[in-house]
Amino acid sequence: MVETGKFIEKAVAEIREAVGDSHAIIALSGGVDSSVAAGLAYKAIGDQLTPVYVDTGLMRKGETNQIRKTFSYMSSLEVVEAEDRFFDALSGVTDPEEKRKVIGEQFIREFEREARVTDADYLVQGTIYPDRIESEGGIKSHHNVGGLPDVVDFDGIVEPVRDLYKDEVREVARALGMEEIIAERMPFPGPGLAVRVIGEVTPEKAQVAREACHVVEEELEEYDPWQAFAAVVGKGTGVKGDNRVHGWIVAVRSVESRDGMTARAQEIDWETLQRIQSRITGQNENVARVVYDVTHKPPATIEYE
Ligand code: XMP
Repeated sequence: MVETGKFIEKAVAEIREAVGDSHAIIALSGGVDSSVAAGLAYKAIGDQLTPVYVDTGLMRKGETNQIRKTFSYMSSLEVVEAEDRFFDALSGVTDPEEKRKVIGEQFIREFEREARVTDADYLVQGTIYPDRIESEGGIKSHHNVGGLPDVVDFDGIVEPVRDLYKDEVREVARALGMEEIIAERMPFPGPGLAVRVIGEVTPEKAQVAREACHVVEEELEEYDPWQAFAAVVGKGTGVKGDNRVHGWIVAVRSVESRDGMTARAQEIDWETLQRIQSRITGQNENVARVVYDVTHKPPATIEYE
């Protein structure tokens, strides 16, 4: 376990030293990693930091409002409404790695614009240890690591939580005085709902996934999962009223894990599963079917793409 007091002191000193009198920007995703990185960076360099939150259209329900609330004490917070640009860029893209690439590149473009406006020389990122391991091992290209310095014209990248595991990041969040809703928040992948939609990402599929994820998060809170979410996995036939419909199939997943590298599917009671099914099929007439995923990692990954 990390000694939070010492860690914060060291991280703050390192950020100050790296950034000096320059300006830095940080991408906020709403997750605990980037929130902690932002908290540390703000402690280190105050108003020399511009926290940027890009609404990609692939975020969790209520994320944008939560961000405005949590970081309201940072006067330089920028909220970028980029939904249309992300959906345009993703149009027709079906390959999982290609989707990540498109999203990563769009992110970079959004940041470059903000960096130019704020004249930022440094980019602060909430990359954590397992992200680096998975990227270095070539398991998956995480959108927030690798390649950036070649593409973006920053003097440097600062990654204050790069050696921490997720549970250590949560400890630091509490030590920084962050609300439990942030410290305890389930991990959310950088590419957002795009990896919870199989195939092409459309505004409709993203919306189905977002609303279903919200239901699952609410209903499974008591199971204290590492991650619990829903994904749009395809289309199938259902009956709504008197009509046969060709509607979305939504998969529900809830896993226990320490660091996301391996995971166990949770055993959920039937009544809860039925309540989830009924809320998800009830809230959207185009959802025909809800299934529960019982696969551990390995052999499956946690996310669907
Ligand atoms: P998988 O699906 O590989 O996920 O078992 C392991 C953990 O990583 C998260 N994840 C990502 N995080 N960029 C991220 O920042 C990504 O591209 C990405 N893909 C998966 C996932 O939510 C889980 O916690």
